[in-house]
Amino acid sequence: MDVAAVEAILEKYPQVRGNLIGILHEVQNHFHYLPEAELRYISKRTGIPITQIYSIVNFYNRFSLTPKGRNEVCVCLGTACHVNGAEKVLNAIEEKLHIKPGETTDDMRYSLEEVRCIGACSLAPAVVINEETYGQVTPRQVGKLLDKYK
Ligand code: FES
Repeated sequence: MDVAAVEAILEKYPQVRGNLIGILHEVQNHFHYLPEAELRYISKRTGIPITQIYSIVNFYNRFSLTPKGRNEVCVCLGTACHVNGAEKVLNAIEEKLHIKPGETTDDMRYSLEEVRCIGACSLAPAVVINEETYGQVTPRQVGKLLDKYK
């Protein structure tokens, strides 16, 4: 368990109660998921019941209790992306990474997720890798795109 990392995050939030979601986001960004030991530490340290923390974690699908890859690849399968070939883009990514949506590569380099409309319909089909949005993605571009992320 990395107490120092959690403490560094908690120190940024003197008012823990109203900022629990922000804290959990930062913990997830640091570890690429929310480890149980760290959640229990936050509970003990802040006095927020662990059940309350888990109910927040389970409510937001952005949070993950299982380890994620260093790079999160999200393929939009919303209507605009779907009609512009998102399935083929997803298939190309699945073939390249040998994983399905919801899975992580063995080397922890990538996690793959499906999402429904990221608000970039004019760019359809769209793929988001970490914080970066790519538009008009074609299956042929997928290899080069993914190789940019180590
Ligand atoms: S449907 Fe993909 S961005 Fe809107």
